[in-house]
Amino acid sequence: MAEPPKRVRTRHFQRAKEQGIKITGLTSYDYQTASIFDAAGVDFLLVGDSAGNNVLGYDTTLPVTVDELIPLTRAVARAAQRALVVADMPFGSYETGPDEALHTAFRFMKETGAHAVKLEGGERSAEQIRRIVTAGMPVMAHIGFTPQSEHGLGGHVIQGRGAQVERLLADARAVEDAGAFAVVLEMVPAEAARRVTEELRIPTISVGAGPHTDGQLLVWTDWAGLTGGRIPRFVKQYADLRTILTEAVGAFRADVESGAYPGADHSYED
Ligand code: KIV
Repeated sequence: MAEPPKRVRTRHFQRAKEQGIKITGLTSYDYQTASIFDAAGVDFLLVGDSAGNNVLGYDTTLPVTVDELIPLTRAVARAAQRALVVADMPFGSYETGPDEALHTAFRFMKETGAHAVKLEGGERSAEQIRRIVTAGMPVMAHIGFTPQSEHGLGGHVIQGRGAQVERLLADARAVEDAGAFAVVLEMVPAEAARRVTEELRIPTISVGAGPHTDGQLLVWTDWAGLTGGRIPRFVKQYADLRTILTEAVGAFRADVESGAYPGADHSYED
């Protein structure tokens, strides 16, 4: 955002879209990274249920619980001085209906200091979004590829290709009508994301949805090269933390084994 506000609020998202200023987001799951990303000027921090894979070691995001995400969200919210903090509502915490969604949103907002919640689904989640927004809590929607439905969607499959764009547009309209302040488009063809972005009044945030959206979000561990193994094609790696840490461990181990660490500089005198 061009003139950085003291605290990014949902109205700044709207203004950014109107002024054609791009919005930048990263995931974060802890105090240290959140304070670094916040001080470096990221506009929002998503405490994603991707913590399931990246922090807790699950294969998917499905097992993650509200109780597991709350302490992580609290740590991120404590660190964020400027960025808007978004708490991700995990699988099984809102799907049964608006009452369950409201209960979960209350927990995140009361217990963590987050400024907004995020949940997955377009038309199918519209009533949940409406109820949370009506109670005064901002909601970031999430459509396109929704990882919590990965088995229902048949795996990591790009959404909104060809005629499927009508489904994507219907989902986008539904979440806007329900009162979402922004919508994440995940793994959507760039042209489909452009159509959604042009049609909606609220900002669109791309995670693998190309350059025509109002903002970009990446999972920080992919973005910084910490993730081992395969990362999605849409991720641009801005650092190689896995190699840096691996080399640092090698150097530390060699120093310990040779006796070079700790030397006098790193020992206390009587
Ligand atoms: O949990 C997460 O990190 C997410 C983003 C990929 C949108 O939901």
